[in-house]
Amino acid sequence: MSTSERIEAAMSAAISLGQKGIAPARLAAALGYAVTPGGARIRPTILVSVARACGDDRPALTDAAAVALELIHCASLVHDDLPMFDDADLRRGKPAVHRAFSEPLALLTGDSLIVMGFEVLARAGVSDPARAIALISVLGRRTGMPYGICAGQGWESESEIDLSAYHQSKTGALFIAATQMGAIAAGQDAEPWEELGARIGEAFQVADDLRDALCDEGELGKPAGQDDLHGRPNAVSLLGVRGAVQRLDDILAGAISSIPACPGEAALAQMVRAYADRMVPAAARRRLTVPGE
Ligand code: IPE
Ligand code: IPE
Ligand code: MG
Ligand code: MG
Repeated sequence: MSTSERIEAAMSAAISLGQKGIAPARLAAALGYAVTPGGARIRPTILVSVARACGDDRPALTDAAAVALELIHCASLVHDDLPMFDDADLRRGKPAVHRAFSEPLALLTGDSLIVMGFEVLARAGVSDPARAIALISVLGRRTGMPYGICAGQGWESESEIDLSAYHQSKTGALFIAATQMGAIAAGQDAEPWEELGARIGEAFQVADDLRDALCDEGELGKPAGQDDLHGRPNAVSLLGVRGAVQRLDDILAGAISSIPACPGEAALAQMVRAYADRMVPAAARRRLTVPGE
């Protein structure tokens, strides 16, 4: 089974469990709506790739870890789009959950997905409680305060933003969770995998800034130009398009050289390279051919 088929099958199984029995029908529908069809599924893809590189000796635990991480990510997007945050009407090319259902249901959808993520891990962890506890601990650390995506969103309510802490917690956190959880699911120590996750997260942030500045809503499937609109500091305003693409290349080169020694090291480096090629939006490549950009 390909990595992507594996992730989709595990995601569907988890969501079906949350929709079983005598459940409120609209909230049950909203859970499915929020996670399918997915976006790039980049975080679970990295997680499964790292687990595979480390031997993937407990595939059911790897699948649970991948699902848990993607559920938390999807929940963060549902909450992020609410009027009290970014007030965005479009997500993944369709109306945001609060537009398709309602604000109370979007709040509950996000809450349910977060809880479901930890439940999925606890359930699968019966086969190896030590690994499960480590997985839950890393996911908790990278979701809440002070190092997780909650902290990342919290920075947006401060009058002075620590840019590095903001990016590390808002974007980097779930990429660190991806590499570390992949290693843990395959029985490896998490610590050596933090740097790779942090570097991929940093690269993702620069690529996201490029996409936000250069792509339109149709290409993105969500509102564009948000950084300028909200006055957020970003790589394109700081470095220009060419500088931002150069920065992205530099970060990814560093990411590849930080991959810890493991049986699948070469394949993992290949995965990061392939991902890098897809990361630079076509609009940025077009702009790079224009003199003076
Ligand atoms: C969007 O993440 C949220 C950010 C952290 C910028 P993705 O670009 O990975 O979203 P999907 O999952 O592919 O839709
Ligand atoms: C969303 O961040 C990421 C989190 C909720 C952690 P953004 O607001 O920057 O991303 P998009 O543009 O809505 O996907
Ligand atoms: Mg936001
Ligand atoms: Mg947003």
